[in-house]
Amino acid sequence: MIQTKGITKSFGALQVLKGIDLSINKSEVVAIVGPSGAGKTTLLQIIGTLDSPDSGSLMINQTETSRLNDKDLAAFRNKNIGFVFQFHQLLPEFTALENVMIPALIGKEKPAVAEKRAKEMLDFMKLSDRMEHKPAELSGGEKQRVAVARALINQPAVILADEPSGSLDTKNKEELHALFFELRDQMKQTFVIVTHDEQLAMHTDRVIHLKDGVVIDL
Ligand SMILES: Nc1ncnc2c1ncn2[C@@H]1O[C@H](COP(=O)(O)OP(=O)(O)OP(=O)(O)O)[C@@H](O)[C@H]1O
Ligand SMILES: [Mg+2]
Repeated sequence: MIQTKGITKSFGALQVLKGIDLSINKSEVVAIVGPSGAGKTTLLQIIGTLDSPDSGSLMINQTETSRLNDKDLAAFRNKNIGFVFQFHQLLPEFTALENVMIPALIGKEKPAVAEKRAKEMLDFMKLSDRMEHKPAELSGGEKQRVAVARALINQPAVILADEPSGSLDTKNKEELHALFFELRDQMKQTFVIVTHDEQLAMHTDRVIHLKDGVVIDL
């Protein structure tokens, strides 16, 4: 489902990614681990088409992403890729329900359909009774579950998560991780998760180790 070949990326004189070849299959939960500064976030941003590599290819669902112009790429990203960040990045002015609906509305879904689907997602996240609340009125764990619902709303090919449980306490962390595996098992959802959490990494289908801009085999 996702293939990268020879991806390189430099910031000025610093070469952060030195030729990354990866292949990620449907309904796989893959962890990317490695020391700080290894290039994990950079790689995830490139896989998410938020940043472009200096060279190399990125195929997502048979589409070579470098061939898309900016407008098509934005539409492709909206449809195929869901993001979950360390800090939820929900829009503070909007309710949980509205936050979840936004990617569907951007994808030109009918508001009634977007609302129905958003409610189903929030229900699955056990947030039915919190959906009219704004982010400031939700707990950290609840906010992250809203962010996961938002990432899922367009039924993306893959969810990319960068330290998704990095700001959560143990209980909320464990709940969030359990949710990822539930989504893999019940919805065949694919995940690529950058994490420092060894518990999470241990339970994923595959761990990719990144060090100094290359994938290392252990
Ligand atoms: N926009 C940028 N401009 C310049 N340097 C950058 C930029 N983004 C990242 N870097 C540098 O690239 C290297 C890799 O950064 P990256 O954020 O990918 O690391 P990481 O593996 O995610 O680390 P961490 O675990 O601390 O989040 C670092 O040395 C960082 O300072
Ligand atoms: Mg990072």
